[in-house]
Amino acid sequence: MTTDYLIEPGGRLLGCIRVPGDKSMSHRAVMLGALADGVTHIEGLLQGEDVLATLAAFRAMGVDIVEPQPGRLTIRGVGLDGLRPPGHPLDMGNSGTAMRLMSGILAAQSFDSELVGDSSLHKRPMRRVVEPLNAMGACITMADGGRPPLSIKGGQRLQGTDYVMPVASAQVKSALLLAGLYADGVTSVAEPVPTRDHTERMLKGFGYDLSMADHTVRVQGGGRLKGCDIQIPSDLSSAAFFLVGAAIAPASTLQLEGVGVNPTRSGVLTLLQRMGADIELRHRREIGGEAIADIHMRHSRLRGITIPEDEISLAIDEFPILFVAAACADGDTRLGGGGELRVKESDRIAVMAKGLQQLGITVRERADGVTIRGGQMSGGVVDTHGDHRVAMAFAMAGLRADGPLTIRDCENVNTSFPGFVAVAAAAGLGIQAVNAA
Ligand code: S3P
Repeated sequence: MTTDYLIEPGGRLLGCIRVPGDKSMSHRAVMLGALADGVTHIEGLLQGEDVLATLAAFRAMGVDIVEPQPGRLTIRGVGLDGLRPPGHPLDMGNSGTAMRLMSGILAAQSFDSELVGDSSLHKRPMRRVVEPLNAMGACITMADGGRPPLSIKGGQRLQGTDYVMPVASAQVKSALLLAGLYADGVTSVAEPVPTRDHTERMLKGFGYDLSMADHTVRVQGGGRLKGCDIQIPSDLSSAAFFLVGAAIAPASTLQLEGVGVNPTRSGVLTLLQRMGADIELRHRREIGGEAIADIHMRHSRLRGITIPEDEISLAIDEFPILFVAAACADGDTRLGGGGELRVKESDRIAVMAKGLQQLGITVRERADGVTIRGGQMSGGVVDTHGDHRVAMAFAMAGLRADGPLTIRDCENVNTSFPGFVAVAAAAGLGIQAVNAA
């Protein structure tokens, strides 16, 4: 049984909403809290399935985690060397972040482990993280084609490395930095363009010294993490659906409260502003080394833009909804150099291009990008291929479609945004979730 969304066309978004906690920060907070000495308190943890997979993995490795209220956790850290063998394969579900970051941690443990996931995760490339970890002395094997499951042999001594990443990836960077905590000497990771730096900021919050200069992060192995208190802001990647929804639906005015606006994540705001969106950041503040703001959004007329290649990684998860914004804009929006979008939870270039075409939009697909010509969207049926962000993007497209939409296979919205339907309906979207065979 899966879930379909039925969307009534038209409507507008109004009011003040809060979306769930940041997924990237939630994974990292659980991981570092588990590996720290002492107690870590977390507030605002995302209750999505991806993060629950990370939590379950650490519980299986002997970490005491209590959750007195949803999203509020106390983790009794076991220290960097205190994890115990899990006794079964660790299931990372749909989460590439969980699998790649965990591979860095598990590579350095004294015990063997195995990382598995769902059918989407088993299609995703793992060589990018396994090869540099093995070059540090890890012993990780993959299935055919460099895909999961990953078998990790424990008891290896890791050596620091100077790694220059060929692909911009915060997951690879983070996996190597986490392995670097255990390695002899210094581990440095250089990235071709900036990617999200939550790992670096959070390591500092846990009292771990690291340096950052010239797109390169350096960490010296052998230190300790000290438990701390973490407040996780709302996820800008989840907020983005509502930001675009308010931008494209006439007469909308929406405020999103307490959203993380870390500059390595906020590319979607810059791109939307360049398209003509009316966005205002209010009550800017900093909590735990992360920038936060309330985002005020009003409907405005959008125009097509060319997306600069070096800004892609700053908005890497927002392309499904940016493509919907492009479909509602005047003129063409062009994306090139975006091949990474083909290896996310789905092939987001192909799946979004097909869905938009089914709604009557002219889309030209290329190997590493698309050109989308703004136009009138019709109603119809689109398939998400199990991708949570594709599902939420097409749900918002309903605000501008001229007929009802059926969006197939929306179950995985629970990986990043449990409660999406209720929040969207309260803001004014005509959305209903139905069970489908
Ligand atoms: C993430 C990094 C990005 C992003 C993913 C979360 C992270 O992946 O797409 O949703 O938390 O580090 P890549 O590092 O593969 O670009």
